[in-house]
Amino acid sequence: MAPPDSYLRQDWQMIRGVPMVCAFSFDWDRIDKFQSRPDDIVISTYPKSGTTWVSEIVDMILHDGDPDKCKRDAIFNKVPMLEFAAPGRMPPGTEQLAQMPSPRVVKTHLPINLLPKSFWENGCKMIYVARNAKDVAVSFYHFDLMNKLHPDPGTWDEYLEKYMVGRVAFGSWYDHVKSWWDKRNDHCILYLFYEDMKEDPKREIKKVIHFLKKDLAESVVDKIVYSTSFDMMKDNPATNYRMAPATVMDHSVSPFMRKGIAGDWKNHFTVAQNEKFDEDYKRKMADTTLSFRTEI
Ligand code: A3P
Repeated sequence: MAPPDSYLRQDWQMIRGVPMVCAFSFDWDRIDKFQSRPDDIVISTYPKSGTTWVSEIVDMILHDGDPDKCKRDAIFNKVPMLEFAAPGRMPPGTEQLAQMPSPRVVKTHLPINLLPKSFWENGCKMIYVARNAKDVAVSFYHFDLMNKLHPDPGTWDEYLEKYMVGRVAFGSWYDHVKSWWDKRNDHCILYLFYEDMKEDPKREIKKVIHFLKKDLAESVVDKIVYSTSFDMMKDNPATNYRMAPATVMDHSVSPFMRKGIAGDWKNHFTVAQNEKFDEDYKRKMADTTLSFRTEI
């Protein structure tokens, strides 16, 4: 086992062609052989697409909108990340999950080909959230600056080049969103968009309630909308990642709950970067019916 800190700011380790966070890459058998339970609810996303937001929404739905119950623990303990590991520092996600009572809510950023087979075999419900590529790039860059489990991202310009070719954690955004989109009709997958959630959170939360076959009073739905707003989650220690070890996440560099808007990319992309990105995007997204809004 690697000593703590030997995996901080290390380069990606490749797992079947996918760049993986070094700390997560040890003993990959624990992922491949992970045993799901039929009532597991999987929250799958490309990083920085609204994972924490939808995780808190699902936890609130399962607890009938009770804000006190939902403050029982940090989001990363309530909804463990399957592939998470920080050897010598924290228990891996697989161990956390093995000890959890059902129904478990499982977070993952794994691309479709790396998701443990057991989830498909058990027909587990999956909620996928996608966010437009430009806002993800900006959010991911700031996350890499503050999260020492990732290598230093370099300058914004350098980072954007790496992002476009998928040399970032969990690989290509383009492949991720497209392959989950293609799978949505073959399995029990609810495919949501961050921009839709920003536009009308109540409408999107109702989709999740319906998908989970819950029946909640309108007043409870309103409570969930209120408690999962950006401002409430930013102030809530259980959801703002301030409970994560400061040696790993440095919120003084960039807070985890950063801006929470659609269209922030306009404050970061230069005209030249935007033109190059758009041209490349058109090529990479030519083979899909999937489309995104970059502002609302
Ligand atoms: P920004 O960096 O653009 O602010 P993830 O949870 O997948 O890591 O995504 C993090 C992104 O979602 C961050 O985006 C964060 O601010 C945003 N986010 C988290 N909770 C949110 C909420 N309740 N409403 C809107 N955005 C939220």
